[in-house]
Amino acid sequence: MNADDQKKASGEAAALLVEPGMVVGLGTGSTAAWFVKALAARKLDIRGVPTSEATANLARELGIALTALDDVKSIDLTVDGADEVGPGLSLIKGGGAALLREKLVWEASKRCVVIADAAKQVKQLGQFRLPIEVVRFGHVHTGQRLADIAAEFDLLPPRLRMADRGLVVTDGGNVIYDMAPGLIAEPAALAGALKAVTGVVDHGLFLDLADEALIGTDQGVVKLLP
Ligand code: 5RP
Repeated sequence: MNADDQKKASGEAAALLVEPGMVVGLGTGSTAAWFVKALAARKLDIRGVPTSEATANLARELGIALTALDDVKSIDLTVDGADEVGPGLSLIKGGGAALLREKLVWEASKRCVVIADAAKQVKQLGQFRLPIEVVRFGHVHTGQRLADIAAEFDLLPPRLRMADRGLVVTDGGNVIYDMAPGLIAEPAALAGALKAVTGVVDHGLFLDLADEALIGTDQGVVKLLP
C-alpha cells in the first residue's frame, strides 16, 4: 500500500463514523479530501463546516450541504489530517496553511478524529516543519521574535513560506512562518511561548485536541487513543 492508499483507507474508515443529522467538521489536505469524498458518497443528511476554501469548494462540488461555524452551536464530529501524529495524539498541522480555521473548528467540536497514513506517526514531534500563522503587518519583526523563541527551544529559525507566485497567504489573509524541523522536547511550553507573541495568530501544535486517530497501515486501519 502506498501513502495515498493508506490516506484513502483512513478517510473511508472515518466517513463511517458519521451519522445522519450530524454537523461535521471537514478537514483540509489530501487525506481529508478522501474523507470528504467518502462522506459525500454516503449521501447522508448532514451539514459540513469546512476548514478552508479548498475544502468548501470540494464539498460543494460533491453536493455536501455546508454551514458556517458561527451558524452552529457546536460540531458533532470533526475529521482532519495531520502532518505528524506524536505521543498522546499530539499533532503538528498546518502543512496546507489552514491551521487557524482548522483549530477553530476542532475546538468547537465534541469529537475530533485525526486521519493519516502510517508515515505520519512519530515518536517525538518535530521532524516536520512547524507552521505558525502570523499577521502580515510587521511580520518580519514577528518573525525575528519567533527566531528568538526557536533559539530558546534549540530549534532553527523559522522561514517565511513562499510559493511560486510569492508569499503564501492564508484564507484569513495572514502569512506562514515554518519553524525548521527539529525535535520538539517540550511541545506545551513551545505552544505557550509562540501564542504569547503579538502578531502570532496561532501555530500548528494541536495538543490535547484529538480524541482518536485512524492510521492507514499495510495491515489495515489502526485506531489510536491518546
Ligand atoms: C492542512 C493540514 C493537513 O491536514 C496536513 O497538512 C496533512 O495534509 P495531507 O493529508 O495532505 O498529508 O493540516 O493545514
